[in-house]
Amino acid sequence: MTTIINMDPAREESNPMAASPSVLITGASSGIGATYAERFARRGHDLVLVARDRARMEALATRLRQESGVAIDILQADLTQPGDLAAVETRLRDDARIGILVNNAGANVGGSFIEQATDDVARIVALNTTALLRLASAVAPRFARAGEGAIINIGSVVGLAPEFNATVYGATKAFVLFLSQGLSLELAPRGVYVQAVLPAATRTEIWERSGADINTLPAVMEVGELVDAALVGFDRREAVTIPPLHDAAQWEAYQAARQAMLPGFWQEHAAARYQTARS
Ligand SMILES: NC(=O)c1ccc[n+]([C@@H]2O[C@H](COP(=O)([O-])OP(=O)(O)OC[C@H]3O[C@@H](n4cnc5c(N)ncnc54)[C@H](OP(=O)(O)O)[C@@H]3O)[C@@H](O)[C@H]2O)c1
Repeated sequence: MTTIINMDPAREESNPMAASPSVLITGASSGIGATYAERFARRGHDLVLVARDRARMEALATRLRQESGVAIDILQADLTQPGDLAAVETRLRDDARIGILVNNAGANVGGSFIEQATDDVARIVALNTTALLRLASAVAPRFARAGEGAIINIGSVVGLAPEFNATVYGATKAFVLFLSQGLSLELAPRGVYVQAVLPAATRTEIWERSGADINTLPAVMEVGELVDAALVGFDRREAVTIPPLHDAAQWEAYQAARQAMLPGFWQEHAAARYQTARS
């Protein structure tokens, strides 16, 4: 376990998250969330694990308490259920020890848009966007008041790629990226760090859960490598971390192209290509 030396006891008393904040991780029962839990426990952070499967979280917590000596709480919650979600929001609002939120819980649904049941796609929108947004909204004002804290939002490269045949899932992940970039601009000056992490195919249960065969994919990253890379981005305070993107200049060029359009959006008149004889 990492030993945290508190250099300023007075500051610690007034601000319980100063030394080594607790980390609340959603979707912590498996995959990327469970791996974040392991990595933050190794760094000496106490944890609050959130997901539906209490037994799996108990088993993980027992192991991590033994390995790392950290304190671990479990909040069983279905984040698509307003009552369960509200309980997690309350915990984030009220527990001043929590200084890092990992907004990781997410799901996909198989099939094309016209095959997907309306209720199923609405459920993944509720989980991947509404729950993530509500948890960020619950905690951000407290972090801003404290002048510190971090929110890690797990997006996906699918949010950049309508071509990947996962339209609704990709749309939820585009939301996560936009929200994270906007929150980063708003909150960085208040001392709050917001990171969007965009994995590509990673070996977790999400594929099987949505009826996809992971063995048909051209390349799959192991979950430990993904989370370790995301934490390198976290430690560097990157706003957007894309572990599988080898050529970082491509992302920078993409952002530069987007930003180059912005001044041109303020126009009294439509572009020449849309001018009609009447205009
Ligand atoms: N694996 C990939 O290829 C990949 C790529 C890009 C992005 N991502 C993103 O990474 C995140 C983690 O996914 P994963 O790959 O680690 O998949 P995973 O192993 O299926 O994990 C999903 C986690 O979310 C939890 N969860 C699902 N529905 C929930 C609900 N209604 N309420 C609360 N928790 C719920 C699950 O726990 P319970 O079942 O116990 O509730 C589980 O802990 C997701 O946001 C996903 O979109 C994954």
